[in-house]
Amino acid sequence: MNVDWKSLTFHYTETDYIVRSSCINGVWQKPYATKDKYMSIHVAATGLQYGQEVFEGLKAFRGIDGKIRLFRWEENAKRMQQSAQGLLMTPVPTDIFHEAILLALKHNIDFVPPYETGATLYFRPVLIATTPEISVGPGKDCEFIVIPTPIGPYFPNGFKGTPFIINRTIDRAAPQGTGQWKVGGNYAASFRASEVAHAMGYECMFTDAKTHRYIDECTASNFIGIKKLPSGQKEYLTPRSKAILPSITNDSLMTLAREMGIKVTRRHIRIEELADMQEAAACGTACVISPITQVIDPDKGITYDFGNKPGETLTQLYHALQDIQYGKVNDKYNWCEII
Ligand SMILES: Cc1ncc(COP(=O)(O)O)c(C=O)c1O
Repeated sequence: MNVDWKSLTFHYTETDYIVRSSCINGVWQKPYATKDKYMSIHVAATGLQYGQEVFEGLKAFRGIDGKIRLFRWEENAKRMQQSAQGLLMTPVPTDIFHEAILLALKHNIDFVPPYETGATLYFRPVLIATTPEISVGPGKDCEFIVIPTPIGPYFPNGFKGTPFIINRTIDRAAPQGTGQWKVGGNYAASFRASEVAHAMGYECMFTDAKTHRYIDECTASNFIGIKKLPSGQKEYLTPRSKAILPSITNDSLMTLAREMGIKVTRRHIRIEELADMQEAAACGTACVISPITQVIDPDKGITYDFGNKPGETLTQLYHALQDIQYGKVNDKYNWCEII
């Protein structure tokens, strides 16, 4: 095992083992570790035919004290169960999810990057329906896989911002569709919009698919805006929408924001309200917080500018969460499981 920690990016780096568990006729088999990264499933599996597949993403951090911390894995287990129920799949029980993650960690312990590198061990749990079927309908048998991969720091050259562009012509998810679940098909559906945005040098900001008047999500992250209220108090604004994934990072940041005396509001956010915000960001497991430098609304010819330097409140929130994840401060909410 020889990983050049400094050259890690967010791309897949192979580790020694993955972990697998099958559910056959409603009975879950004990998770096991294997070096084989290929799996054999029936060509008519509903996961392949109809995209009956959901996934998750979570990280293990090597703390300042050398200990390994697994961040809020129960929330990922819960969200994966909700995603599975959304596609009429057999949900992975919490104990099987936990056992599989711990097994994946134990068998790849040398792949947990050292604290100083800012890199982490990312886990990609995947659930795919394996029942062969051609008639359109859900399969009940499934395969649960945990794929670990070390990933580099999201900001190798310091905490920096990204420009976004609004897209009203390609929707990521239907208003009452599968956007609230981590379904593979949602991501395939977003590829085109991202490609269009990337070609122009931006990331894509999705608006609500019904009216295209409200902010939904920032590529694969939730949106946060920080606004100064007339009273001087700050407000943390984040969209309420049935079409966005309930981000665990966003939930954690909302808790920390409240603790800092910031008012937290989750509601529909009109695109024009960007003009009233002093700071804006995308948030998620990969980046924690990725500040937004500007948002272009090409249809209206408007640019909302947030400056090239991350704002004060977002910077504070970013460090507050990272300090918990790296064991630099007391984990008063018990968000980390120390392994
Ligand atoms: C569509 C989408 N929104 C938001 C998020 C952020 O969620 P979390 O903070 O749980 O990583 C993700 C990443 O998982 C995502 O894929």
